[in-house]
Amino acid sequence: MHKPSTVGLISGTGDQGQGIALRLAAAGNTLSLGSRSAERAGQTARRINQKIGEERVRGMDNHELVAGCEILFLTVPFAHVEQVINEYRQEFSEGQILVDVTVPVVFDKGPQLLNLESGSGAEHLQSLLPSGLSLVAAFKTLPAHLLVEIDSPLACDEFICSDSSSAKTRVLEVVSQIASLRWIDAGGLRYSRSLEAITLLEIALNRRYRVKEARMQVVGL
Ligand SMILES: NC(=O)c1ccc[n+]([C@@H]2O[C@H](COP(=O)([O-])OP(=O)(O)OC[C@H]3O[C@@H](n4cnc5c(N)ncnc54)[C@H](OP(=O)(O)O)[C@@H]3O)[C@@H](O)[C@H]2O)c1
Repeated sequence: MHKPSTVGLISGTGDQGQGIALRLAAAGNTLSLGSRSAERAGQTARRINQKIGEERVRGMDNHELVAGCEILFLTVPFAHVEQVINEYRQEFSEGQILVDVTVPVVFDKGPQLLNLESGSGAEHLQSLLPSGLSLVAAFKTLPAHLLVEIDSPLACDEFICSDSSSAKTRVLEVVSQIASLRWIDAGGLRYSRSLEAITLLEIALNRRYRVKEARMQVVGL
């Protein structure tokens, strides 16, 4: 049987999932890319492999992916996170790291963040996780539009936060390989509130300035 790769993307078939998979694969990682449809995952994986000219991404059903990977990127719309966690609850296992990429934004008379009791989408997700899993928030402020343009340098900063420093270190080992991107440790998971607010600001800036790739760079660090 195929030995599962360490890193996987739950429903990595969307814009953000494909962009992250592409950048990680181009940096030399082997990855699993999941979907509710194994066929759709296979098609997406083939497209990414063609773009990078190497067989580094393997598509599969989300159930198989969740059962086999150590680091799992959650790349579904926030509205579905609860349903997705429940769907794969039996396949999660102790020691896995879930990387939350989601932003709880709704488009109702303009973009807005959901007013969540736990404070942020990531903190809400933390409360849904089976015990023994660590949650890390990352890739929340990077635009998919740029991530998928593999020949364009990202040329910006991206933020990571978590209440587990060992999980954060493990994820950084993987994502730090992406060229032209500097990672900033934003601290504990509560800082996901600020990161999600930054994404909302970027969406507004994209609209106001009629661009698609607004992103962040911190000076003084
Ligand atoms: N787009 C951006 O620029 C950007 C930037 C920062 C963060 N994010 C965050 O990244 C996440 C993914 O964004 P995206 O634009 O890639 O989303 P998307 O394309 O709308 O959806 C991603 C994937 O989610 C799965 N999905 C869709 N509906 C579902 C449902 N009802 N139940 C379960 N799974 C479902 C689908 O995968 P399968 O059908 O293959 O399973 C789909 O390909 C979002 O939470 C977003 O807030 C996006």
